[in-house]
Amino acid sequence: MSSCGQALEIGFGPGLAIAELAGLAGRVHGIDHSAAMVRRATRRNSRAIRDGRVRLVHASVDRLPEFGEQLDVIMAVNSAKFWAEPAARLRDLRRLLRPSGRIALAIQPRCPGADGATTAQAAREHHDLLAVNPG
Ligand SMILES: C[S@@+](CC[C@H](N)C(=O)[O-])C[C@H]1O[C@@H](n2cnc3c(N)ncnc32)[C@H](O)[C@@H]1O
Repeated sequence: MSSCGQALEIGFGPGLAIAELAGLAGRVHGIDHSAAMVRRATRRNSRAIRDGRVRLVHASVDRLPEFGEQLDVIMAVNSAKFWAEPAARLRDLRRLLRPSGRIALAIQPRCPGADGATTAQAAREHHDLLAVNPG
């Protein structure tokens, strides 16, 4: 599979997508503001971390650490809805990208009663956020 360069995941949780990205990207950064999630994701990705392909940091999207390189891909799965000011945070993240870089937000509503309409509404909200912060 071809490399997608330098990637960052915000809110990686248990680190499943980090493990997938590690097989695709040259180098993977991740931040999560939960110390428990950083521990879980670190266990799951220990080999890639040892090899220097993955770096996980305990940090909030409100206070981004230094990444030391421009990024090709920034993604967040089921995380942006928890950010206090998502539009402002997306503007911060946009500055970390190479000119050709992309931001991807994914959302899967899991609240009681969630259905296709709930998912479509969440998708529209995320789409609107990205539309005012193209990337
Ligand atoms: C619902 S979980 C999703 C985890 C993972 N992305 C997944 O889909 O399995 C949301 C994650 O976002 C993280 N998170 C929420 N707000 C955050 C913030 N302001 N900065 C960094 N991480 C945050 C939480 O700690 C949690 O790990």
